[in-house]
Amino acid sequence: MSSASTTDLPGTPELPDVTQHLVKPLAPVTGRVHATRLCTRSRKASGFVRHVEIDVSGTPLQDAWTAGQSFGVIPAGETPDGKPHKLRLYSIAAPTGGETGDGSIITTTVKRLVDEHWESHKLLYGVCSNYLCDLNVGDEIQLTGPVGKRFLLPKDPSKHDYIFIATGTGIAPFRGMIMDLIKQGMPSRVALLMGTAYESDLLYDDELRSLVSQHPQFSYHTAISRHTTPEQTEPLYVQDRLRVDADTLMPMLTSERTLIYICGLAGMELGVFQTLAKLLGPGELSQYLTVSDDLLADVDNWERSMIPKQLKKTKRMFLEVY
Ligand SMILES: Cc1cc2nc3c(=O)[nH]c(=O)nc-3n(C[C@H](O)[C@H](O)[C@H](O)COP(=O)(O)OP(=O)(O)OC[C@H]3O[C@@H](n4cnc5c(N)ncnc54)[C@H](O)[C@@H]3O)c2cc1C
Ligand SMILES: NC(=O)c1ccc[n+]([C@@H]2O[C@H](COP(=O)([O-])OP(=O)(O)OC[C@H]3O[C@@H](n4cnc5c(N)ncnc54)[C@H](OP(=O)(O)O)[C@@H]3O)[C@@H](O)[C@H]2O)c1
Repeated sequence: MSSASTTDLPGTPELPDVTQHLVKPLAPVTGRVHATRLCTRSRKASGFVRHVEIDVSGTPLQDAWTAGQSFGVIPAGETPDGKPHKLRLYSIAAPTGGETGDGSIITTTVKRLVDEHWESHKLLYGVCSNYLCDLNVGDEIQLTGPVGKRFLLPKDPSKHDYIFIATGTGIAPFRGMIMDLIKQGMPSRVALLMGTAYESDLLYDDELRSLVSQHPQFSYHTAISRHTTPEQTEPLYVQDRLRVDADTLMPMLTSERTLIYICGLAGMELGVFQTLAKLLGPGELSQYLTVSDDLLADVDNWERSMIPKQLKKTKRMFLEVY
């Protein structure tokens, strides 16, 4: 193996202890929708994505979560065979303490699942995403959680710099984490890499551009996969940004302070791993990925099935993809 063990890796972060499963699926609590709005850059986006704020004040969920965790939603109604719907998880897009700071407003970023069924070709509406997106201000909603103890900022965030890599709604936890870092005076360099199909699909784009202008330590790198723009002359996936924006990102990638977080589409991590392997020397790569020299010589043939055993991320890399 060409890599250091994950236990003695320099820059390994200490994570905070967080509460999990305070509210369980058999006894969900009732929240109330506080606000709901589209959060794509344009109404002409290729999908419908909503920023949904839920008031959980007076429930055990109030002030009981940390940015990066998820919560459960139990959709109203029943399945076609008369059973209660099962719970779905949604990443918290709010900072720790919620949108208002007192822990009462929990938020997520939800994309309507609308498609043709792969076999029947009938219209398929995802149950929970459409339930959540249809809700109006004041509507009640059954919630559980919080869930997740690893996809978090470290106990002392100022000890690290961050590369956040998102596809689509995978941006949700990073919105909360970035707001947490800002509350602490932005003590770190933060690069957010955000991938969408079209420019119109970018999420929280105005909000993020405004943060760039206010916080010199924060950079925002969009990757549009299905067209070019005046600023982007070739279609890009998020991992391509690591190469294209090397001026900003290489100094971060090679620093012992840097942690990499990946969130979004299942499978996106493979391309990120391959790009890191191509950009970094074996010593630098071993900060994030433990991989044998044989495999390192064959990067283009890596497959997702090699994760986590042959392509093993270190404690400096965080992954949440579904
Ligand atoms: C930890 C975690 C965090 C998450 N965070 C978020 C988030 O922040 N935002 C977000 O939007 N989502 C998030 N998700 C995904 C979310 O939980 C739901 O899976 C998603 O909203 C779809 O749920 P649904 O009830 O609408 O769809 P369902 O009714 O559950 O339908 C989805 C099912 O349909 C199948 N399916 C999909 N397309 C087709 C098709 N064309 N033909 C046939 N079958 C198909 C899928 O395989 C899947 O089994 C997260 C998931 C996890 C595990
Ligand atoms: N905490 C979590 O785990 C969490 C939180 C939020 C969301 N999610 C998951 O994130 C996903 C987001 O889906 P979405 O519909 O919002 O995204 P999407 O619109 O389908 O895709 C966003 C972008 O990712 C690109 N992409 C596709 N495959 C890729 C790959 N292998 N590597 C890099 N980029 C790739 C897409 O390009 P093309 O389409 O042009 O190929 C597009 O530009 C959902 O599956 C959701 O469940 C998970």
